[in-house]
Amino acid sequence: MEFKKEVSLDNRPKVLVTGASGFIGSSLVEQLLEDGKYQVYAGIRESSNLKYLQDSRINFINLCYSNPSKLKEQLEEYNFQCVFHLAGVTKAKKQDFDKINFEYTKNLVDAINPKTTKLIYLSSFAAHGPGNEKTFAKSKVTDENCPNTAYGCSKLKSEIYINANFKGKYVILRPTGVYGPRETDYFLFFQTIDNHIEPYLGFVSQHLSFVYVKDLVELCVKAFESEISNKTYFVSDGNMYLDSEYAKISKEVLSTWTIKIKFPLFIVKWISYVLDSFGRTIGKNFTLNKDKYAILSARNWDCNIEDLKRDLGYSPKYDLKKGVEETIQWYKKEKWL
Ligand SMILES: NC(=O)c1ccc[n+]([C@@H]2O[C@H](COP(=O)([O-])OP(=O)(O)OC[C@H]3O[C@@H](n4cnc5c(N)ncnc54)[C@H](OP(=O)(O)O)[C@@H]3O)[C@@H](O)[C@H]2O)c1
Repeated sequence: MEFKKEVSLDNRPKVLVTGASGFIGSSLVEQLLEDGKYQVYAGIRESSNLKYLQDSRINFINLCYSNPSKLKEQLEEYNFQCVFHLAGVTKAKKQDFDKINFEYTKNLVDAINPKTTKLIYLSSFAAHGPGNEKTFAKSKVTDENCPNTAYGCSKLKSEIYINANFKGKYVILRPTGVYGPRETDYFLFFQTIDNHIEPYLGFVSQHLSFVYVKDLVELCVKAFESEISNKTYFVSDGNMYLDSEYAKISKEVLSTWTIKIKFPLFIVKWISYVLDSFGRTIGKNFTLNKDKYAILSARNWDCNIEDLKRDLGYSPKYDLKKGVEETIQWYKKEKWL
């Protein structure tokens, strides 16, 4: 894919979104375009699906993550005021998590000019790992990190690298489960409810947290525009939802009835492990796999966002009910449901 270089009279600052073709990345690109203050560059690759990047104001750049010197040249050429680093994989083999989530992040961080560019890195709650399952306390960034997945370890490794090596301004955001239009994993849950099945994994209630994609992308922009730097934050809508509340809200919004089915964790584990090894044999990453089991079997995914509210004036506009309403409306409009 070749992109034409044109002399531009536009002197608004340039910002780059990596992973721009993805669920969160494409929503962030939209948010930045709506703000209108920046020239928006979408970091994509040859194979990226550009379905959600059709706006003619978007500039494209095919980043060479695996070639540090080329990557540096690319970033120097554009002199971005901010790099929002979202590119990453959430379902992959361990070596791909290491390569894409860590090595590529390291190369990008090394290529950024710390004097001119602020870095916003989208990490994950998974970098911390689940919270205490006895006290059910909300996890805080000051707690010890114990990621329980290869995905979480790769995100934590990147955080550690940034904290130790990036000499410029940066903010690390650790979103919990992000849902909204275009999302494909939570969608499977809504689809299951729509098919009248209300699934529960294990017999102890799960403490869950969520953030609606629009709140998250607004926050990303806020993190760039604020003076706050060298900080890490959990991101959720501030509420804890039991798995039963999550199902109830989904059922209400879909105006449907369900039959509750509780799957013992050992069965979920067995299926996940079988799919994981089958997936490795045929080179496919299934939604249910070993890593996903570790996430689904954990009971406490609740986090504390008081520091985010205080430092960045974060005030999410969407609770789960409002966000699920908007999301399901979108799935219906797009005929996913
Ligand atoms: N969704 C969540 O609940 C959640 C929660 C916490 C944190 N996060 C983090 O948020 C970020 C975005 O997640 P998402 O949900 O938007 O995921 P997504 O829809 O799967 O998007 C991932 C993006 O990363 C790009 N990417 C994947 N492999 C790449 C590679 N080898 N080289 C270059 N680009 C590559 C993809 O490009 P292609 O289109 O070309 O594949 C895509 O643009 C990730 O870093 C993820 O860890 C997500």
